[in-house]
Amino acid sequence: MSSSALASFGSRLLLKHQAKSSHRFLSTSASGFDKVGVIGLGLMGHGVCQVAAASGVHSSVVAFEPEQKFLDLGKDRIEKSIGKLVSKGKMSQEDADKTLGSIHFTTDMSDLKDTDFIVEAVIENMDLKRDLYTSLGATCDEKTIFASNTSSLSIGEMAQFSGRTDRFVGVHFFNPVQLMKLVEVIKTDETDQAVFDKAYAWVNDIGKVPVSCGDTPGFIVNRLLVPSLLQAMLMVDRNDASVKDIDISMQLGAGHPMGPLHLADYIGLDTALFITQGWVEKYPDEPAFVLPKCLKEKVDAGDLGRKTGKGFYHWDGDKRGDPVA
Ligand code: 3HC
Repeated sequence: MSSSALASFGSRLLLKHQAKSSHRFLSTSASGFDKVGVIGLGLMGHGVCQVAAASGVHSSVVAFEPEQKFLDLGKDRIEKSIGKLVSKGKMSQEDADKTLGSIHFTTDMSDLKDTDFIVEAVIENMDLKRDLYTSLGATCDEKTIFASNTSSLSIGEMAQFSGRTDRFVGVHFFNPVQLMKLVEVIKTDETDQAVFDKAYAWVNDIGKVPVSCGDTPGFIVNRLLVPSLLQAMLMVDRNDASVKDIDISMQLGAGHPMGPLHLADYIGLDTALFITQGWVEKYPDEPAFVLPKCLKEKVDAGDLGRKTGKGFYHWDGDKRGDPVA
């Protein structure tokens, strides 16, 4: 084989490997981001931190939580997920050690100062985000680009608080972050095109697939997905069909990996309610945004799905049980 054919074969092999796995230890990054930060290590943030570190393209990933107990919980989640990947032979012990070794866990916001790119994944509360972005804007270097992983809040509104509207994008990941390949990259009217291009390139850097979308409610996926979950809940409200039959129908009749009520439990009923309530208040004339009675009742009762062990189904950790009678 000639040297150019060998090089082409090598790059094809590399691409094939990258398509299969996000656990790479390459030295190049198309985005040019060397040091990145993740704020909030909850359900989404711990996954973002993990995949960014596992990509091997960053010198360091700064994982920030203001409180030590949440930092420890996030670290534990990452360790458990990496442990699962290693035990199933999907990640080598060497890559696992490198991944964990490249994450700097901290409760000190000033550790984010010299990062190139920060992904924020804190709870969906605009007051909290206002305070966070105001502090972050004052703490970080001029060069730092901010990105929010919000599901449903306005990227443009958050950008205003940061004092850097041109260096602000959305990067919306999907749950579970470790497995779901898509990331929506959101551009506002004020985002600099070069900044957007870097964020888009970064999604490729970490082994995910980017799509581009404007700053519109729910972006692409949630705008289509959440109303379909709400329609399934309205069927429950009307007693049209059982929880189990609705889910089986969408799995076997529409080829979805999980039925809509199973998925709602998996995402968290509080998250589904939060997204819906925000939309109903802000867009009262949009008929796709409706609030099912059963969703509100379950959240009011503290039955939030997988995270509390009960929602439309009973849950034992990550294992789904029978529908709640
Ligand atoms: N870390 C590491 N490994 C993990 C993991 C994690 N966090 N979660 C699961 N795995 C592993 C499992 O151990 C399993 O390994 P194995 O194949 O070696 O046994 C493998 O990944 C597959 O997991 P499951 O056995 O649970 O198998 P599934 O084939 O059912 O896949 C799924 C799980 C990918 C979650 C699939 O059911 C699915 O695609 N569901 C739909 C998810 C979805 O729609 N997500 C989007 C939600 S909307 C959203 O996030 C937006 C937000 O804004 C609300």
